[in-house]
Amino acid sequence: MTVDLAPIAPYFSDLRAGRPLAVLTGAGVSAESGLPTFRGPGGIWEGERAEELATPGAFARDPVKVWRFYSWRREKLRAARPNEAHLALARLEATLPRMTLITQNVDGLHAAAGSRHPIELHGSLLRDRCSGCGHVSPAPDQPFESLPPRCPLCAGLLRPDVVWFGESLPYDAWQAAEAAAEESAVFLVVGTSSVVAPASSLGIIAARAGAHLFEINPEATPIAPLAEGVFRAKASTVMSALATALGAA
Ligand code: OAD
Repeated sequence: MTVDLAPIAPYFSDLRAGRPLAVLTGAGVSAESGLPTFRGPGGIWEGERAEELATPGAFARDPVKVWRFYSWRREKLRAARPNEAHLALARLEATLPRMTLITQNVDGLHAAAGSRHPIELHGSLLRDRCSGCGHVSPAPDQPFESLPPRCPLCAGLLRPDVVWFGESLPYDAWQAAEAAAEESAVFLVVGTSSVVAPASSLGIIAARAGAHLFEINPEATPIAPLAEGVFRAKASTVMSALATALGAA
């Protein structure tokens, strides 16, 4: 499939010359790696209530249920590999003088594709954190033998090191993401439904600060009316075309 890059092409020379590009990604970027998105048909939240699986209250009430959910996601993750969207973004980062990659994804696939410093707004499913002493450790290669897992240091309850609904984003990650949005010349919103705050506000912040905003998503989202251009196609198709056009083949 060919992609008509005309709406964004006028900014290519600026980006090559070092004007900053910022990119916000969501679950749609990993869909082509076989990881389900959250919303829509077949999404993770279909038939599930996020409040019962991804909140501090849910974990306090039933840590085993919450851990079964995240263990299932880890299993899917173990079989997943970066797709062309992740790889094209990594090539772009290696080619452009200034690019910041911000993601809501917790799957680690941007780093696996070679992106050096993805800003992970929602934490990482590849790490655990003790809800007692705060000790952070890499997630084990194999599923836990029994749930819920306990901290090796203090025997407190381990939790996945992700951000749940009702929790604040990691301070440094948010500061860096907000700064990148504010200073970006071009801001791409890729594969996210743009309904979960505060990540969804980054495109708005960028547009208000004067960035040229583009959406890459087969479906329209609430950010679309603010966008200068939209690409209604899969992330792999558009990012691959964009990377090639910018010399990041
Ligand atoms: P969503 O599931 O809400 O949205 C995924 C988006 O990806 C949708 O708009 C799809 O149209 C789009 N999409 C699907 N396949 C695509 C493809 N191949 N290429 C491009 N786009 C595609 O996922 P997020 O917006 O990431 O938070 O969700 C945001 C947050 O809500 C998540 O980080 C998670 C979730 O609840 C927490 O768990 C705290």
